[in-house]
Amino acid sequence: MTDLHKVSYLDIGGTVATVERTFVAIKPDGVERGLVGEIIGRFERKGLKLVGLKQMVVSKETAETHYGEHKGKPFFDGLVSFITSGPIVAMAWEGKNAAAIARNVIGATNPAQSPQGTIRGDLALDIGRNVVHGSDSPESGVRELGIFFKDGELLKEWNRACDKWITE
Ligand code: RTP
Ligand code: MG
Repeated sequence: MTDLHKVSYLDIGGTVATVERTFVAIKPDGVERGLVGEIIGRFERKGLKLVGLKQMVVSKETAETHYGEHKGKPFFDGLVSFITSGPIVAMAWEGKNAAAIARNVIGATNPAQSPQGTIRGDLALDIGRNVVHGSDSPESGVRELGIFFKDGELLKEWNRACDKWITE
C-alpha cells in the first residue's frame, strides 16, 4: 500500500486511523466551460481533503485503461474520444468514506436524473457531457489513482488544523 491509496494517521486520541482516498477528474467539458473552481470548491466545502491535483491531456491508451469496464459498450468509443479531446483536472480527495461521499457530491450518471445540489444536477444536461468523473468504489479509487498518479505525486500525511471539526 502506498501514498496513492490510503494513509494512516495518528488521530487526536493517539490511535492509528486509516483514511480512504478517491479519484475525481474534471472532464474536458468542465475545464472548457470554466467550471474548475466551482467544482473543486464543492469538494472542499464538503470537508474532503485535496491531496493531489494536476491538469493533463489523457492519452487514448490511458483512457481505454481507465474506462476498461465499458469496453464493447455502444458509448465506449465516444467516451474515449471525448475524455482525450482536451485537458482534464485529475484530483485525489481524502476523507472518511471518500469514494461514496464524492459520488454523492457528483450525483447520478445522467444529469436528467441527478438532483439539484449535485454537480451534475446543477451544472450539466447530457449524460455524455456530465463534467466530472468519480471512482465508483474504494477499490476503483485505488485502481484509478494508480492510473493517473505516480508515487510521490500525492501528499503523504497532512493534518489540517480543521480536521478535528470535520471528522470525529
Ligand atoms: P464516470 O465513470 O464518468 O464517473 O461516470 P459514472 O460512473 O457515473 O458512469 P459510468 O457507468 O461509469 O459511465 C462512464 C461514462 O460514460 C458515459 N455514459 N454514456 N450513453 C450512455 O448510455 C452512457 N452511459 C454512460 C457517461 O459520460 C459516464 O459518465
Ligand atoms: Mg464510472
